[in-house]
Amino acid sequence: MCGIFAYTGSNGKNAAKVLLDGLVSLEYRGYDSAGIFIPEAGVIKTPGAVGALRKKVPKNFKGKSGIAHLRWATHGEPTEKNAHPHWSGDKEIWVVHNGIIENWQELRAKLISKGHTFVSDSDSEIIPHLVEEHLKKHKNFEKAALAALNEIRGTFGIAMQYKGEPDKLIAARMGSPIVIGVGKNERFIASDASPILPHTKKVVFLEDGEVAILTPDKHTVLKLNATKIQREPEEIEWNAEQAQKGGHEHFMLKEILEAPLVVEDTMRGRLILNKGTSKLGGLDKVEKKLKEIDRIIIVACGTAYLAGLVGEYMIEEFAGIPVEVELASEFRYRKPVVNKRTAVLAISQSGETLDTLEAIREAKRQNALTLGIVNTVGSTITREDDSGVYNHAGPEISVASTKAFISQLVVLALMTLFLGRQRKMTAAQGKEIARELKKLPGKLKAILENEKAIETLAKKYSHHRDFLFLGRKYNYPVALEGALKLKEISYIHAEGYGAGEMKHGPLAMIDENFPTFAVAPHDSVYEKVLSAIQQVRARKGPVIALTTEGDSEVQKIADDVIYVPQTIEMLSPILNVVPLQLFAYYFAKEKGLNVDRPRNLAKSVTVE
Ligand code: G6P
Repeated sequence: MCGIFAYTGSNGKNAAKVLLDGLVSLEYRGYDSAGIFIPEAGVIKTPGAVGALRKKVPKNFKGKSGIAHLRWATHGEPTEKNAHPHWSGDKEIWVVHNGIIENWQELRAKLISKGHTFVSDSDSEIIPHLVEEHLKKHKNFEKAALAALNEIRGTFGIAMQYKGEPDKLIAARMGSPIVIGVGKNERFIASDASPILPHTKKVVFLEDGEVAILTPDKHTVLKLNATKIQREPEEIEWNAEQAQKGGHEHFMLKEILEAPLVVEDTMRGRLILNKGTSKLGGLDKVEKKLKEIDRIIIVACGTAYLAGLVGEYMIEEFAGIPVEVELASEFRYRKPVVNKRTAVLAISQSGETLDTLEAIREAKRQNALTLGIVNTVGSTITREDDSGVYNHAGPEISVASTKAFISQLVVLALMTLFLGRQRKMTAAQGKEIARELKKLPGKLKAILENEKAIETLAKKYSHHRDFLFLGRKYNYPVALEGALKLKEISYIHAEGYGAGEMKHGPLAMIDENFPTFAVAPHDSVYEKVLSAIQQVRARKGPVIALTTEGDSEVQKIADDVIYVPQTIEMLSPILNVVPLQLFAYYFAKEKGLNVDRPRNLAKSVTVE
């Protein structure tokens, strides 16, 4: 997720000032590097955020239009050369892009064969080169842009500019948001309305597959196939902060609702359906070494640790490699037995958690192969591990991790395919998992449509001070995560337990004031979880249960039931955790708490 801001005006405003001021309100979208292009003045790029860019911009850097960008890296390290804008070989076409181009390698190879040279490692750089190529043929910027946009696959929010027509901007959207601002003798393109609001409240939201052509006095909306669309601007009443949250009250809710897109982005270009496997650049690099390992130790903290527990079940069942999952803070201080046939895999959203980083350093000292599943490109763990896989989940702002957890599970499933197909997994098994992975975004959308019912449920139970979460096998870590989410943001006592372990302690706490949230999908331990629910009922404990659509048993013994679509057992945590995240969110909201910034907690724990 990156931030895009572009401006064209004929009212005397300095585009550089408008763009730099506006970029600040997009910083929440990630800021590992920034850049600005003004046709009359040139281009300036830098690692860092808007402050760093501002320092590099000289006083005489002025013009009437321009494009600017804040980058959150997905392909290529966060360096100056990978920062946007990117330009064509002849430096005529300039582009800022948010998203991931799925077929960039293929297009890049084609362009190289036509004589193009590239200066960055970014997938985005192919876009201006493609437009340049089409411009040779069409001799028309709009036509060339449309032809290029029809060639790229993946997600994009784009703003582009042609030096030959400097007052014209072209925007396009596929999966990454784009808002057009309509002012007096000025037009804007942005990733959300927040940088536009100081200038105008009139906006046009582009839909997927739409393109907009803007000049200071006019904007036209087209489909990718060039047919025109009539769309009147709407007046928005949001303030800048609401605009950043997509109109939601908190980042946490926005991030939970992003789950379907996150799953698609994490899988993009990595799932090979017809071969039942995955292509993960980071693992390709160490493919040989991975064949030789005989053990994996996953190290992580917090929510990332719980993703690791699901990974253990996946990898052991389908790849047959022994896996241990360890709290990074424990691993680094005991005397772990590790050797060169051990892979130590760090899972971390930030890539900066000190305990996880130190665990990787300890593993390196002992000659283990070190790997990472990290969301933040260029973070310390990614610089120190031997190899790794990025989540591509976009920045996560809310302290309580939600979408990063989902993407960690998806990467673990992709890794399981990769490691499994290197070993005992058959092509048929691989294909089934790949097919089911592909269906997850649609199923997540269906779950999220049920948001209101979960809100009502959270309100109903919000007076309770204690909660027990139960789950078993793949959904044991989901129960732990459900409890962790409630603890983190609601400050109430919540315990996650394995359903089979309940009678060894927690059952003693159960009475009519102590509710249980049971995760009981149709899987290989469904009946076992059902019997745990019955034991809770026998002690008069209230029960909320999550089960699979079409179930008729759970409603007979639970007070409240949440239904989720069926998937294969190993992927079920990716669906089941979402209602638990929503439950915790609405529970905390009902209590009037600061959901995004819970007391005493930090997003990234870089101290011991
Ligand atoms: C903190 C955050 C959690 C997160 C954990 C690990 O406790 O509040 O949400 O799961 O750190 O962070 P990491 O960045 O390593 O995934």
